[in-house]
Formats: sequence, C-alpha cells, structure tokens
Amino acid sequence: MTRGDAKSVRKDYGLPDHGCASVTFEDNMPNDITLDAAVRSAVEEFLAVGIPSPQVDALLLAAHVLGIGRGELAARLVSGDTLTREQLDRLAGYVARRVAREPLQHITGESGFRQLVLDIGPGAFVPRPETELLVQMVVDAVLASGQASPRVIDLGTGSGAIALAVASEVPHANVWAVEKSPEARAWAAHNNEKYGGIVTLLAGDLATTELLLGDEVGTMDVVVSNPPYIPDDAQPRDPEVRLYDPAVALFGGADGLDVIRQVASVAARIIAPGGLVAIEHGELQGPAVRKILADAGWRNAATHPDLTTRDRYTTAVWSA
Ligand SMILES: C[S@@+](CC[C@H](N)C(=O)[O-])C[C@H]1O[C@@H](n2cnc3c(N)ncnc32)[C@H](O)[C@@H]1O
Repeated sequence: MTRGDAKSVRKDYGLPDHGCASVTFEDNMPNDITLDAAVRSAVEEFLAVGIPSPQVDALLLAAHVLGIGRGELAARLVSGDTLTREQLDRLAGYVARRVAREPLQHITGESGFRQLVLDIGPGAFVPRPETELLVQMVVDAVLASGQASPRVIDLGTGSGAIALAVASEVPHANVWAVEKSPEARAWAAHNNEKYGGIVTLLAGDLATTELLLGDEVGTMDVVVSNPPYIPDDAQPRDPEVRLYDPAVALFGGADGLDVIRQVASVAARIIAPGGLVAIEHGELQGPAVRKILADAGWRNAATHPDLTTRDRYTTAVWSA
C-alpha cells in the first residue's frame, strides 16, 4: 500500500477523511482515553508517515500492550474500554518506534508464521508471509512422497521459520537447518527450544553443508531455501528492511544469485535420488534460477507464483 491508499484505509476503519477525530499521544492526554480513540490515533500517525498496514499495526500494538489477542481486542474496542495511563504511555512508545519504521515484529518480539509464533529480534530476518507458501510446497511434497521418515533440510534458516514449520506440520519428518550468522542462529536455537527441539540446527556456511551433515549426505528428500537474493548495489525500498534486516540475509552478490548458485550445487551433493529442491527468489529471477539449477544437474525446473501472481519460487528434481 502507498500513501495514496490512505483514504481507503480511513474509510475501512471509519475514520473521517479530514482531520483527526481521535487523540494524539501527548503528555497532557487525559487518563480516560478510550482504546478505540487510541487505536484511531495510532492509525492516523501511521498513515501520516506511509506505514503500509496502518490499521493492522495499530491493532496489533494495542493488543500487545494489553496482552490479549485480536478477538478480545475487537470486543474491548466496541465496548468502549479505556486505557490506564501506563498502558497509554506504553502504546505511545510503541507507536513512536513504529513511526520510526522499526518492524512491528521487533516491537512485539514475535512473528506469526504458519501455525507458529516465532520469537524475533535484531539479528534475525523477519519471516515473510510469502515464505509460508514455500513451506506449503515442501509439506505437500513430503506428504505426497508417502515416506515413513522423510528428510528435509533448510539452508539459511534465520529464525528457524521454514524448518520449524515443516517439522511441526509433518511430525514424522526429520528436519535439519543450516545457518552461518551467530545472531540469527541464536534466535533459531531459541525458537527450536520453544517448540521442543524438533529440528537439528547446524552452524556454518551452507556451501559446506555436506561437511556439517556427515553420514546424512545423499539422503535428503527435500532441500529448501529462502536465501539472500538482492543484488549488492540495490537498495531495499522499505526502511524496515533496509535498516533492520541483517545484510547477510538480504544481499547475494553482484547479480543477487551467488547464494542461490551455492544452494543449487550443494543441494545436488546432499540430495537423495528423486529428491526435490525448492528455492524462494525475486520475482524476475525465475529464468536465471531455472538455468542455475539445470546447469547443476537438476531436472524439471519450474517456477511458481505467489498469491499476488509474481514468480517467487523455483523447484526441481534430482533424477541422477
Ligand atoms: C532471507 S533470510 C531467510 C531466513 C529464513 N529462512 C526465513 O525464510 O525467514 C536468509 C538467511 O540465510 C542466511 N545465510 C546467508 N548466507 C548464508 C550462507 N552462506 N550460509 C548459511 N546461511 C546463510 C542469513 O544469515 C539469513 O538468516
């Protein structure tokens, strides 16, 4: 959404088109501000600086302050609940951080991903909704294989999102995850512990995965990766990405494809016959990724769209 969408958001949320019928977060605010007015004020502040999802962010921050879910928040909004001074102050602090474009997930400390709630903070890439579709492809492939103990590895796991989602949705799978950044790995280890240690976390560069895997080399049924794929000289448009996602999670060399080349070749060395590789990439990179995979010996490379019809994932099979 762009600033030009502000009017439709006002309409969706029942806000006036001109001016602000709510409150601003100032020191002299009265103590009996309603939750509804505080949320409206946050929406106005977010609209003013072009936050892409002002309404959702305002609601999630209010729910976070109150320690409740979206359903209960909706009930409290219509029943005219008020906020205490302390709650208002905390909400004002969160709103100011979001206005400065700190990611919502860093402020709340968590990120919903498939059926998981991952703990997230500085040093880890914030999982994206489009990656949930990559997980769906992996889950579908693993279930369709009918194997008793399918083996899946996630290269560049970040917070552990893909690996943990697959391991929790396919409990009979064995899942490994590789990550080279110690900061990201700490979040992955924390999230893995939170969900019962269902993933084997390997520390190191994904280009050396066969050394990390030892005896498991050549046995992987699925290799999945959402690697860094932005060209080094490109500037991410969103400040949340530019300022808060780690560079190692974003940039993939001069053409953005260096890590994808490493994934294609290391995956070919660790995959089992008939296994699948599934890679997320930029919307214009499909043809290049298919060529990289074909050059590395993969067959039937195919690119798949996300929910907005942009080409974002390429899969291929190993039939050597
Ligand atoms: C785009 S992020 C994706 C994180 C996570 N898979 C997700 O989808 O939310 C890419 C991840 O790959 C890691 N990474 C980048 N290059 C790597 C390499 N050569 N070896 C291992 N991990 C790498 C980064 O640290 C980062 O955590």
